[in-house]
Amino acid sequence: MEIIPNLLFPTLVWTTLFDDREAFNARLLEQARALRIRNPTGVANTNIKGWQSPNNLQDMAEFSEINLRILQVCQRIAESQNFKPNLTLQSQAWVNISPPGASNQVHFHPNCHFSGVYYVSLDAPECGSIFFRDPRVASRMMTYPVDKATEFTASELRMRPEEGRMYVFPGWLEHGVEENLSSRDRVSISFNVLAIPQVSSSK
Ligand SMILES: [Fe+2]
Repeated sequence: MEIIPNLLFPTLVWTTLFDDREAFNARLLEQARALRIRNPTGVANTNIKGWQSPNNLQDMAEFSEINLRILQVCQRIAESQNFKPNLTLQSQAWVNISPPGASNQVHFHPNCHFSGVYYVSLDAPECGSIFFRDPRVASRMMTYPVDKATEFTASELRMRPEEGRMYVFPGWLEHGVEENLSSRDRVSISFNVLAIPQVSSSK
């Protein structure tokens, strides 16, 4: 007797690793640190003990390359999910610098189709993992008596950050980042992407 599991309503987290990550990250790290020097206060959001920039990297020339890659990756993902062709992707991005002891509390990103993070610099695995909460809220009504959680029975799943890897997920997926237990800053760039109908200039 063959029992076949069928995947309904899967939650996808896409990742991609950039080939030129070493040189690319060296430039980004320098720019991220320069940004913090210009605005040492940053903004308070979900970061605990960390520094976060305003979410306007998309307007800054020195971050044009990462902005372009965010849009390219999300465009590919949108196409894979049959998004309409006449859409424009708009992004917002910001820098996170999380020193030892810093973490990000659980949150989600409203009003966007995709959210994600790109890891610029970290000391894995002590720097802490990104974790995702089970979005199947009804599943919280009953836990499974298992020895070892699977992707089906888990209530939270972790992914280990990797320098040079971008993670993209639906904005509604609750997530957080564990405490940085390493002795180095964890530096990342987070983003939101919204697909909007193209505005025609002709009448
Ligand atoms: Fe987030």
